[in-house]
Amino acid sequence: MEAERPVSSHVHTNFESVASGFTETASDYEDAVRFNIEGAQRLALTIPPGRYQDVLDVGCGTGWATQAVIDRFRPARITGVDPAEGMLEQFQAKLGGIEGVEVTLSQTDVESMPVAEESFDLVICSMAYHWFPRKWEAARAMARALRPGGVIAILMSGRGGEQAYRDVISNIEPINYRWVGAFDGNLRSIPEMEDYLVQAGLDPIDIWTETRVRHTSVEAYMERMRVVAGHMIGDQSEAEVAEYVDKIEAKLRELSGPRGWRYEFVKLFAIARKPEATTG
Ligand SMILES: C[S@@+](CC[C@H](N)C(=O)[O-])C[C@H]1O[C@@H](n2cnc3c(N)ncnc32)[C@H](O)[C@@H]1O
Repeated sequence: MEAERPVSSHVHTNFESVASGFTETASDYEDAVRFNIEGAQRLALTIPPGRYQDVLDVGCGTGWATQAVIDRFRPARITGVDPAEGMLEQFQAKLGGIEGVEVTLSQTDVESMPVAEESFDLVICSMAYHWFPRKWEAARAMARALRPGGVIAILMSGRGGEQAYRDVISNIEPINYRWVGAFDGNLRSIPEMEDYLVQAGLDPIDIWTETRVRHTSVEAYMERMRVVAGHMIGDQSEAEVAEYVDKIEAKLRELSGPRGWRYEFVKLFAIARKPEATTG
């Protein structure tokens, strides 16, 4: 769907390349990023008990967060929004036929969602907020979609994660400034998230981070990077990208111990509510 997009052409390019990146890797997403399933389930578990009939899943991807919300709350209607066609196809195949839940999908970015204001009881956004190029605008767009009293639940990558990998790529020459800088551009802290929510007119209920230390093989780590963020490496030729990735892999192997490549990952969770309308 071609929706109106009130963003600058520069920002356009940004989310469109993110979207085409996710479309290219959509069929590998579920295998490479299993941790996101558990994150989506825990996000759904942290939503305050309530009756959520109309749910909006922003950056819905292949539908893990929607699945978790269906399992817990059995809403009547779910709208999934994502600019990546390939991810929406996976979503539709998986969740399009659940009895009693009406699913509507829209290929669009967070700022151009074709949804009515104040029409959702719950907005969820799992592992997508870090990709939004205008985070203040994104928070406002999601807040607008919420009914008074409605809840928003966000899970994103938090500041401080992936430091070991960042240290590696900061020293791979020629230095890929776009790739190195992407982490600071994307990751956020608790106070930053609190600001986004408050400025969007929401009342934060609970915001917290979890830091995990994981050990994995270099191959599995690089596959995860390819699937979720390969498009960020840049506009070099295929051969240049291959050479760059080879250098990274060699360095990760050199630094790996007996349990493989060790890295830290920070998850930032946030739950907030839209204040009830005041009368008088
Ligand atoms: C890591 S996936 C997460 C998918 C899903 N929510 C989950 O929990 O598995 C990130 C998703 O955000 C989407 N995305 C990226 N930029 C976006 C934007 N500007 N607006 C909405 N979604 C976006 C991507 O296309 C991708 O499907």
